Amino acid sequence: MSNSLFRKKSLTTILRDAQDGLNDGHGGMNKVLGVKDLTAMGIAAVIGAGIFSTIGQASYDGGPGVTFLFIITAITCGFCALCYAEFASRIPVSGSAYTYSYVTFGELTAWVIGWALILEYAIGNIAVSISWSGYFNNLLEGIGLHFPEWLVNNYDSATEQQLASAPHLFGIPVILNLPAFLIVVIVTYLAYLGISESKKSANFMVGLKIAVILMVIVVGAFYVNTGNWHPFMPNGFSGVLKGVSAVFFAYIGFDAVSTTAEECANPQRDLPKGMMYSLIICTILYIAIALVLTGMVSYSQLKVTDPLAFVFTAVKLNWVSYLISVSAVVATTSVLLVFQIGQPRIWMSMSRDGLLPKPFSRIHPKFRTPSFATIITGIIVGVPALFLNLTIVTDLTSIGTLFAFILVCGGVLLLPKEDPDTVGKNFRVPYVNSRYIIPILVIGCAFFFRGVLASRLSFQGGFEVWKHNIPFFFFVVATLLMAVGCALRNLSLIPVLGLLSCFYLMTEIGIKNWIVFGIWLVIGLVIYFSYSYRHSKLGKDSDIPKVNLA
Ligand code: ALA
Repeated sequence: MSNSLFRKKSLTTILRDAQDGLNDGHGGMNKVLGVKDLTAMGIAAVIGAGIFSTIGQASYDGGPGVTFLFIITAITCGFCALCYAEFASRIPVSGSAYTYSYVTFGELTAWVIGWALILEYAIGNIAVSISWSGYFNNLLEGIGLHFPEWLVNNYDSATEQQLASAPHLFGIPVILNLPAFLIVVIVTYLAYLGISESKKSANFMVGLKIAVILMVIVVGAFYVNTGNWHPFMPNGFSGVLKGVSAVFFAYIGFDAVSTTAEECANPQRDLPKGMMYSLIICTILYIAIALVLTGMVSYSQLKVTDPLAFVFTAVKLNWVSYLISVSAVVATTSVLLVFQIGQPRIWMSMSRDGLLPKPFSRIHPKFRTPSFATIITGIIVGVPALFLNLTIVTDLTSIGTLFAFILVCGGVLLLPKEDPDTVGKNFRVPYVNSRYIIPILVIGCAFFFRGVLASRLSFQGGFEVWKHNIPFFFFVVATLLMAVGCALRNLSLIPVLGLLSCFYLMTEIGIKNWIVFGIWLVIGLVIYFSYSYRHSKLGKDSDIPKVNLA
């Protein structure tokens, strides 16, 4: 058994294992997805709780300048999407960033990334189901139906009075978010039934939500008062940057497309296209929405959890507002569906590698879905959704996803050279030599932002003050090392830019979230060393060739 924590899987081994999965006696998974479906799936995963809920606070903090954040985040995600696309094309199996790290960084990092992806998929879905429940409740209230308050709330958000009036069990007030739990049960059931059913539902939901979003932009444009765009950044750029977590959350999802690799008719060709198309479409819609939103009312009124519905109520278009609430319910359902499909497929890959117990890779004989892993995902998302509050889970999702993106970008830099016979068949990140560009960019930024650098690297004010700058300090160190690496190794520019921009966005997410994220990783490591390391298939297959890095 190999003892190395950094033992790697070769591309050949990964493809062979996936094939073994297909030959499990049931014929593997259904290969029914094409470019249109994958693009729809990307949009289904991206447009949801972020644009319908969390950007309210971001617009309040940043004013119309939040539009810049949508552009910056889109460019960052664009770099990452290209990297994801290269991986997805060369390794068309279901594990997404987890599998990609296994090839490039080795087993330990692959485990860490698989563990971090739970934050993106399962924990992210807790956030989405809570947002869904809020809009669903609005919708019911619009037609005069009311859930008892104790059934649509959580402990963190409940007021003293709500706690007192809730029913008590053994002296403890019972406060639950029942609709959030029920929607997770329904969506998990759909994901369990099969990819075809899920595909049809996702396509339908995407059509509806794009139509409504276009209507918001077109109708809203008539109500824009350009006076609301002045000043464009009322709280400066630091106000804009407060929205990083919320805006990044709104973009999460284009990468989830890669988890359906084994259900694609032609993954090498279609996965990159599906990811890029969905990201481009969402970016255009988001920038337009940000401008309309901040043009219709003053940014100072946008500290709400239903900003799109709110601005139309503010201009007395109540019917549009109601329509938005209906479409928010549909939009967030499709996000739930895609992530509820993605999480079990990542676990399936981890289980095939022996890092998780065998049942996680069991494929249902009739529905051809990873049945056990799907049910566990339902439990892990549904139960916390009964109790948790939205912002905690949003921040955690964003930080975990940024971390995954960093490793994907870094992984592309380490990918082995392509076999001569596959050259031209797979998607490749366009190569631009970073040798001069990155060092010049770093020196330029250091000069231009010297004031910010000096204040953020200053260790004055005691631990309570400068602890917030610790992530930024590591970012600066990583940037300098990267610049040296680029100068010496002629690294590919796009992955380097993706890696550094994701790292920068991570530094803008509060230190509290870094601590929770750190604890999450430590728990993951404990599981790895107590179970996964010893059960790893790679450790047992001594005949598996080591990957030969370029
Ligand atoms: N981008 C997804 C959403 O906003 C996670 O709901």
